[in-house]
Amino acid sequence: MRTVLRGIESKTVYPAKEQRYRGENGELLEVVSDLTSFNRSPAAWKEHFDEQKEKPAFIRYKDVLLPDLPEKCITSLSEGDTPLYPATKAMRDYFGVEKLELKHEGMNPTLSFKDRGMVAGVSWARFIGADVVACASTGDTSAAMAAYAACAGIKAVVLLPEGNISFEQYSQPIAAGAITLGLDTDFDGCMELIQKITAKHRGIYLLNSMNSFRIEGQKAIGIEALHQRNWQVPDWFIIPVGNAGNVSALAKGIRELYELGIINRLPRIAGVQTKAASPLYNSYKNGWAGLVPITAKKTKASAIQIGNPVSFKKAVRELKAFNGVVEAASEEEIMDAKAVVDASGISICPNSATAMAGLRKLAKAGIIRKTDSVVAILTAHGAKFSQATVEYHRAANRFANKPKALRADVAAIEKALGL
Ligand SMILES: Cc1ncc(COP(=O)(O)O)c(C=O)c1O
Repeated sequence: MRTVLRGIESKTVYPAKEQRYRGENGELLEVVSDLTSFNRSPAAWKEHFDEQKEKPAFIRYKDVLLPDLPEKCITSLSEGDTPLYPATKAMRDYFGVEKLELKHEGMNPTLSFKDRGMVAGVSWARFIGADVVACASTGDTSAAMAAYAACAGIKAVVLLPEGNISFEQYSQPIAAGAITLGLDTDFDGCMELIQKITAKHRGIYLLNSMNSFRIEGQKAIGIEALHQRNWQVPDWFIIPVGNAGNVSALAKGIRELYELGIINRLPRIAGVQTKAASPLYNSYKNGWAGLVPITAKKTKASAIQIGNPVSFKKAVRELKAFNGVVEAASEEEIMDAKAVVDASGISICPNSATAMAGLRKLAKAGIIRKTDSVVAILTAHGAKFSQATVEYHRAANRFANKPKALRADVAAIEKALGL
């Protein structure tokens, strides 16, 4: 085996196939794979990825994601190969940067980046022989896990904060046949319970982001973006943050490419939270002080309504290594940013818009310079959040495109169109 699980603080090593989510001392774990054992030069790595172009992204990048996973265990729904859109002029003007690209992870099979994690997590579950998988979710994790488990023929159990996720997200695990439990608590409450359940019932395999194998799959987002840019590193990646797993995955993937010599410098990373749930931002503002969990407030960016981010320590370590920053955006800033991106024809969710709102603030503050190149990670599709979108446009908001209800006749339509 090339891969082990390792404690992020004590560096204690555990066998990769052991079903474990934390070290003996309770610390977070990470997957460490000896990638030098492939004996490839940077040019050979690039050639290898190019040769795999026709394969699903997870298989193309498998050697740097889960090199020990046998191909026969992979359950893929053809996730990945998401678009890297150049920003329109309207977006460049509004967000304040001249070189902006948008990596739209909402264009995955279940409409979020979580598919990148679940192709890895569910495939790994098959590899170690698990036949029940489970997660707590703010909506997207459960949608992805349920779909991949259904595809693999594995039973899925999801815990959701009842009333705190969108209707579309709620429909996804139900439709895919998962046992769907809506609990009268918030996400952090669901997370605590699923950890207790999976610790007690070892036959249930936990697929939240504290499962380090799932996180390895999410590294593909940054790796694929860099591949699409012909390995030219932008000055910045910008990404929304909730439980802090995805920002950790993004950084880990990029760092490993750098260590292999595939890229020749590191970008900076900006994580953005909603002001309704900003414990990582609070830590950053206080000189990377320790985590002070909060009770997250209700927010349109409900997928990142998380007050006690499980991957906090990993995220801080990575953000420090990338000279990273953290920003927080208000509800108004988030929904205005969403409207600007949506108006270009690229439909995004409020969580993705949180990253965009943060970008605007960081550009305004001069932390991201106008001439810096920026890749923004859009994490889910706007189609999952139709209620938030319609409510925004029906009300007196800055970029509202107010729909009109009319009498069904020609004269009324002519009047409305000014004809
Ligand atoms: C759409 C969306 N964006 C961003 C995030 C944040 O990712 P993470 O929780 O890994 O920080 C999540 C999940 O929590 C999400 O569903």
